[in-house]
Order: sequence, then structure tokens, then C-alpha cells
Amino acid sequence: MPRLEPATRALADDGTPISPRYGDVYHSADSGPGQAHHVFLGGNGLPERWRGRASFTILETGFGLGVNFLATWQAWRADPARSRRLHYVAIEKHPFLRDDLAALLAAYPGFAELADELAGRWPPALPGTHRRAFDDGRLVLTLVLDDVESALRRLDAVADAIYLDGFAPARNPAMWSPQVLRGVARHALPGATCATWSTARAVRDALADAGFALETRPGFGHKREMLAGRRLPRGTPRGPTTPSPPDGERHAIVVGAGLAGASAAWQLARRRWRVTLVDAAAGPATGASSLHAGSFHPLVARDDSLLARLSRAAFLHALDAWRELERRGHAIAWSRCGVLQLARRHGGDAALRATIDELGFPASFVEFVDADTGSARAGLRVDRAGAWFPEGGWARASSIVRAQLDEVSSRHDARFLASRRVASLARTADGWRVMDASGECIADAPVAVLANATDLARLSPIGTPVRSVRGQVSHVPAAALAPPRAVVIGHGYVLPAIGGIVVAGSSYDVESTQAEPTPASHEGNLARLRALSPEIVIDAEAAALGGGVGFRAVVADRLPIVGALPDLEQPGGSVDRVALRDGLFAIGAFASRGLVWSSLAGEILAARIDGDPLPVETDLAAAIDPARFVRRARRRAAG
Ligand SMILES: Cc1cc2nc3c(=O)[nH]c(=O)nc-3n(C[C@H](O)[C@H](O)[C@H](O)COP(=O)(O)OP(=O)(O)OC[C@H]3O[C@@H](n4cnc5c(N)ncnc54)[C@H](O)[C@@H]3O)c2cc1C
Ligand SMILES: C[S@@+](CC[C@H](N)C(=O)[O-])C[C@H]1O[C@@H](n2cnc3c(N)ncnc32)[C@H](O)[C@@H]1O
Repeated sequence: MPRLEPATRALADDGTPISPRYGDVYHSADSGPGQAHHVFLGGNGLPERWRGRASFTILETGFGLGVNFLATWQAWRADPARSRRLHYVAIEKHPFLRDDLAALLAAYPGFAELADELAGRWPPALPGTHRRAFDDGRLVLTLVLDDVESALRRLDAVADAIYLDGFAPARNPAMWSPQVLRGVARHALPGATCATWSTARAVRDALADAGFALETRPGFGHKREMLAGRRLPRGTPRGPTTPSPPDGERHAIVVGAGLAGASAAWQLARRRWRVTLVDAAAGPATGASSLHAGSFHPLVARDDSLLARLSRAAFLHALDAWRELERRGHAIAWSRCGVLQLARRHGGDAALRATIDELGFPASFVEFVDADTGSARAGLRVDRAGAWFPEGGWARASSIVRAQLDEVSSRHDARFLASRRVASLARTADGWRVMDASGECIADAPVAVLANATDLARLSPIGTPVRSVRGQVSHVPAAALAPPRAVVIGHGYVLPAIGGIVVAGSSYDVESTQAEPTPASHEGNLARLRALSPEIVIDAEAAALGGGVGFRAVVADRLPIVGALPDLEQPGGSVDRVALRDGLFAIGAFASRGLVWSSLAGEILAARIDGDPLPVETDLAAAIDPARFVRRARRRAAG
């Protein structure tokens, strides 16, 4: 993705926000909120059209200041007959920085409360898709920070209403090109409406060509006319094809109550799904998610690789989701103390500097630091440069699991079935049944989600093994060394002292099933700790250390698996069309990054199940699709 260039805050002589880049105003000089109501809400038949709907989706080209968004949110909140959920999907190439946005929005006192919420949750200026759930998940903003054309190409959403709000076509032709308007039409449901203040001939022609029946209506303020359109039935829209099921069928079994299962359960429960959570253990978070604490941070890569983009999306999503859990009164054990990721030992400094310079990301996300600066930030002497992630840190997975499950159980009819190991599953007339070793039914539901880590592919194969990789962390008493202030990561990693314990990790033991800590793994962890900091003195014997053992679930490409499960017994129509097991889903294979992956993975999974717009670009969703291994094998076989 190209470097993101934020918008510049500027006002025209009459006080209307203006873009020096495009030489045009952000909204009618007569009134931004007035234009939003007349042109965009009114032109799309809102609020009437969302009334009584379970879910309604608006797509906007050009988020700008969010005046249209705030006017829509306010109207939706005030409407007692509003849809249960409102999705607002918006595309913006040049977002404002948070302070500029807040300052500009202060000029709209009617939006004060909502504008504060928006600015408070405003994402950093980083390319990609940013999702924000407001009003306890009932109003969902999906903000795609990218050029409109590539954003539309990678968007997985279908819209009921469309706001076309670029700058004037003469000054901003890229927003109104025939390709872009055809792209918009591909995301419009049959009968979807669109509206814009522009009546330019080229816009009318391109919209008509793209399949919209248009009419001119009285314009807002000094504008004589505006355009309103309706999508004629034509082609298949690009977005979720499964409609959200009716209330009676919104029941899902989730197998596994670690980071994966809890995140999926939370996102389903806030979408009004009844969740039955089943775990083999006596309580939640007893597997890999039981470890004392782990690190969370994104990855960066010079070509902003798929893994880097996915980890950024997931990291930013987790920060927002965990803060939301805190706002809702849950105690999360975490600290954004910063993460120092050391450069590779030989020649890594220059390469890392070049990567970070080239990406041009804000320092609030990542910064190149030399060995001295890194040492000062981390409070630990290191001998190499590194990438500094100021918002990264450590978190205790079990506290996140508990917070999410408390949210689940505070909603209707949630159940947690402890000490029930799922031995098999079977298709029923209405969905899925999970059974114990004696064949007794544990639970039945239209939808089942497998979140049982290393055991997942046993219940439903995915065409590749899910390997179990043992890991051991060592608990070094804080008094036995001078603990760092931040997380430091090289070949191994060390966390700051948490409750008198410094976690150092971790072993990666592919074949082992040893569930108890071993002195040999402690030795390995201490050696990794010494390699992080040449001057570190550790006043402790490996044999005397405490620690924790967990088993990571890992697939060949080390990416998570999130989505519908493939049906290996069905041949499938074509190489790329893998048959799916209707109503059966998976979330997991988080390997060594469960803290980073889990929150976004839960959101993606629930969006898939409920037919919502996806919170990530289509290529990222495809990279974690559980059917990818089958698809790849078929492509290889087809030559
Ligand atoms: C040593 C070590 C260090 C790590 N450090 C970090 C780190 O620093 N940062 C980071 O982000 N991640 C780290 N991880 C990875 C992270 O812990 C995992 O990715 C994450 O916990 C996986 O969550 P999960 O829910 O998929 O699996 P788990 O937490 O293992 O949960 C799976 C659940 O499924 C249940 N289950 C299994 N089979 C069945 C069945 N048949 N029926 C019913 N229930 C079943 C289990 O009882 C368990 O509760 C580390 C992992 C290890 C091992
Ligand atoms: C008229 S303003 C939108 C005002 C906005 N709807 C509001 O309610 O505040 C047009 C927006 O389109 C954005 N834009 C211009 N060209 C773009 C492109 N090629 N891709 C995506 N966004 C673009 C601009 O940065 C600007 O924010």
C-alpha cells in the first residue's frame, strides 16, 4: 500500500473546512449537518428504509470529517424503529490526524457527544481497514484508509444505501471515475439507493452505466439539484452472500474456551447469538491461554507484506477491543509499556532503519531506535538497534478470556459446559451436534465453531496438519535481575516484572508432549535472555525456576485459520471453489501470537457467520481462510 498522507486542517474564509490539496470544501457552506440530512440521509430514504431491519449497511466514498457519519449515527440513535445494527463502511484516502479531527468537529456543537466518541476512538494514520464498534456493537464503523479504487476492489461488503461524497468531480476526478462508480455498484444490493450533491453530466452517465436508475431532486442550500439513484437488479454484489439467520436460529456452539473461543463467543453474543461454550477443562483459559503473560506487538516488513498488514490490523483491533472491555468495567491485566524488537544480529540495523523509513508510519506506531535509545526506552542495555512499538506491551490472556466470557454470560441464555471433551461431531437436520467419547450429545445448534486449538483438525480436517508445538516460559524472580521497563524481543523475549515475576521465553519444542517445565527448557530460556542483553546478570539457577508450559497450534504457513471449514469429502465445483461444511467454522492456529490475533479473528469469524461486512480486506481474509490448504493442493494438482 502506498504511504498514507493525512489531510491538512484548514478553513475557508467563511469557516467551512477546506482541503488545500483539492482546493474544495468538505461540505456545503450552507451547513454540513444540513447537507448530510437533506442529500445523504434524505436522498437514500433514511431513516425510513432502515426501520424494522435486523441490519442495514451504508457505504460512503469520502469519510472526510465524518459529518455525514455523525448525522447518520445521531438520526439512527434517535429513531425508536431503527435497525438493530447499522454498518457504516467508509473509504478515505487522506484521513485527518486525531487532534485536527477533534478541533474541526468542535465547530458542530449538535454532535458534541458523538464527535467526542469518534475522536476518542479515531485510528492512527495507518493504511488498512479500521473497525470501531460503538453503542455496544450496534453501530459499527468500518473505515478503510486507502484510495477509493483499490479499497473497493478489496472490500467485502454489500450496501443498502450509498453516500457518494468526493470533492467536486472537476477537482477530484478519481472519486467519480466510471471504474470507481462501477466498483461502487458491485457492492450495492439490488434495490440499494445512492445519493450525491453532484449532478455533473459525467457522474450521471457513469452511475447510469454502472446500473443505477437516477432522478434529480431539489438540492440543498444554494444548490438547485442533487442526484438520487436506485440500483437496478444486475450482477451479483461483492460481499457476504449468507443472510443473517433469524433470531430462533441464532444459537452457536463454541468448542474451546481459550483466547480463540472467548473472542468468537463475545463477538457472537453482542450480535445477539446464544452461545453454548464447551471445554474439556474445568474452567476457561486452561490451555496455552493460561500462561502468566505474553507480549503483543505488530510486525513490520519492507514490502508491507500480507503478514505485516494482518498483524497491524489485528494489533490495532486488539488495542481498541481491550480498551472497550475496560470501559465496560472489566479488569484486564495488561500494560502498554512498549515493545523493543531487536534487529537481526548481522547487518540488521541498516535494513531495519530502511524498512521503517520506507513505510513512513507514525512514530506512535513504530520508530527505528539505535542501541542507546532502545536501551534507554527498555531499561535494559541492548547492543543492537531495534523497532520500537510504543503501544505494544504485555497482557495476561486469562484476564482477556474472563472479560469476554463475562460479557457473554451477561447476555441471554449463554451456557458454559465445563469438563466436557468433544470427541466427535455430526451433521444434524438443523445444524451440528457435538458428542463426548461415549457418543452422548453435549450440545446441538445450527452453528458450531471449533476453537479447540491443536485438537481442531481432528474434528474437521483442513487438508493440512495442525501441529502442536510445546513452549515453556521461565519465571525469574524480579529480585534476581534488573527487570526491563518494556518488552524486549530478539531470538527470545523478556517482559517487565509482573507481580514479582519476570517472564522469559520461550522454548519451541516441536515433537514434545512434556506438560511439566523442564530444567533444560529453563536453561534455553536463560541463554536466550542473556543473548538479548550482553550485560544482564541473572542471579538464579535454572533448576530452581518456576515456569509454565503450553502447546501452540501451528499450521504450515503459520497464519491463523478463521472462517468456514472445508468439506474434504465433497469434490467441489472448480479448483477455486472448495465445498464448505455449512454452519461449521474454525478459529485458531494462533501459534505464538494468540494475543495479537484473537480479537480481530473473533470479529472476522462473527462477521462471516452473520453476513456482515468484513473488518479486513479480502486478500487478508483469504490468507486465513481454513479452506486455503485444500485450494492450494487442488491448484497444484491441476498444474
Ligand atoms: C510458551 C508459550 C509462550 C507464548 N507466548 C506468547 C506471547 O508472548 N504472545 C502471544 O500473543 N502469544 C503467545 N503464545 C501463544 C498463545 O498462548 C496462544 O496462541 C493462544 O493462547 C491460543 O489460544 P487458543 O484459544 O487457540 O488455544 P488454547 O488457549 O490452548 O485453548 C484451547 C481450549 O480448547 C479446549 N479443548 C481442546 N480440545 C477440546 C475438545 N476436544 N473438547 C473441548 N475442549 C477442548 C482446551 O481445554 C482449551 O481450553 C505463547 C504460547 C506458548 C505455548
Ligand atoms: C467532500 S469530502 C467528504 C466529506 C465527508 N463525507 C464528511 O461527511 O465530512 C471528500 C473526501 O474524499 C476524500 N478523497 C479524495 N480522493 C479520494 C480517493 N481517491 N480515495 C479515497 N478518498 C478520497 C478526501 O480526502 C475527502 O476527505
